[in-house]
Amino acid sequence: MNITIAGVGYVGLVTGVCLAELGHQVTCIDIEEEKIAMLQAGRSPIYEPGLETLLEQNLGCGRLQFTTDPHCAYKKADIVFIAVGTPERPDGTANLEYIQVAAKTIAQYITNDIIVCTKSTVPVGTNDQIKQIIESIKPPYLQVEVVSNPEFLREGSAILDFFHGDRIVIGTDRPEAAAVLEQIYLPLKTPIIKTDVKSAEMIKYASNAFLATKISFINEIAAICEKVGANIDEVAYGIGKDQRIGHNFLQAGIGYGGSCFPKDTKALVQIAGNVQHPFELLKSVIEVNNRQISLPVVRAKEILGSLKGKKVSLLGLAFKPDTDDVREAASLTIVKELLEEGAIVTAFDPIAIPNAQEVLGNSIEYTTDIRQALVDAEAAIITTEWEQIKHAPLEIYESYMKEPVIIDGRNCYSLKEVEKYPITYISVGRPAVTPKYTKNNSI
Ligand code: UGA
Repeated sequence: MNITIAGVGYVGLVTGVCLAELGHQVTCIDIEEEKIAMLQAGRSPIYEPGLETLLEQNLGCGRLQFTTDPHCAYKKADIVFIAVGTPERPDGTANLEYIQVAAKTIAQYITNDIIVCTKSTVPVGTNDQIKQIIESIKPPYLQVEVVSNPEFLREGSAILDFFHGDRIVIGTDRPEAAAVLEQIYLPLKTPIIKTDVKSAEMIKYASNAFLATKISFINEIAAICEKVGANIDEVAYGIGKDQRIGHNFLQAGIGYGGSCFPKDTKALVQIAGNVQHPFELLKSVIEVNNRQISLPVVRAKEILGSLKGKKVSLLGLAFKPDTDDVREAASLTIVKELLEEGAIVTAFDPIAIPNAQEVLGNSIEYTTDIRQALVDAEAAIITTEWEQIKHAPLEIYESYMKEPVIIDGRNCYSLKEVEKYPITYISVGRPAVTPKYTKNNSI
């Protein structure tokens, strides 16, 4: 199969590299020349565990190529996966500009009958639009089928998810097109669900909205736990044991970020609104999430009073561990709020500093050394549950901070462990720990 991937963002790149690994001939096209040059040289523009190794291997054996030339990308293609971005518009709707451009370009350059497969997250009905655009431009003697094939890859474990996913969704009314895609995915042995196009489009939004709902739900329970003196870890474990509920996505914290949940929840509210269905539940999910993100700064002010001129260390810039992605990361909002309060911020992150710097510039200091971030800090706010943070010995807070105050937005430490140190420790949905003695004077 000659496969072309339109758009070498996060989804397109992982899909292209993994399909090449399955033995297909894959060409990836993007308009960003710098990115394509980097990929041709075997370097990945994003950090994703295992990606660069597969990239090098498949470039090396000639199964994978990168180009900015649509003629080269589409001339022999049998299948085209559209994986361009669908960024959020100011009103929350998905911007489909890149999708439309991709559809037009495909129609102009194809020379075979093809299947166009949409991986990008698009509102219900978009695949019909893609079909119309292509039909209106392509040569009349060519056959084009458009299939919805949403992706469920998580950043940080995308390669694993590709090879060991829970399901593959193929949305089409054409059994022949579904059969071709089934053949492509067959070696993965992942269960395949075949639906109509609109249901496939909806499965993607509903999946992300449901996961976001679980997170906001547990964060609401965490807020109540704090007030009644319960512990969210024990509550989440207790409810998760019910197989109908499950343990996943019940980690309380400062909310969800990233390029998907914030964007897709807002888009689904819009999609529902367009058909006169006010999606109140999802609106509340979004509201709860916005509140969670601001919690650390509220807590810091409760403990320290004014933050003006005080050094605060921020532990974690990426929106979650194992990625360098800072899109919609809680860290960015928290830094903004801290700076507005007049705090002096030093941020630690093992790999996301370059991406954070593009947004935050020189407004804060950066370091890849946790200890350095803590020197003379009056509060440490944990925003990402990096292994480097979870495994950091608690002694370092005592050694490097003034009087150690940890505001843990990801519940990284056990309360029992923290109690052994002179640390004021505030986490999410768990009782606060106040030190039995202070760093410099025993109480
Ligand atoms: C999410 C979905 O999990 C993928 O299935 C989907 O393919 C992807 O969006 C997408 O639409 O492209 P991702 O954004 O990479 O993947 O990350 P998640 O692991 O889902 O985490 C999202 C956010 O929720 C993170 O900020 C994470 O810290 C937060 N989270 C997650 C919690 O606060 N609590 C949890 O229990 C789980």
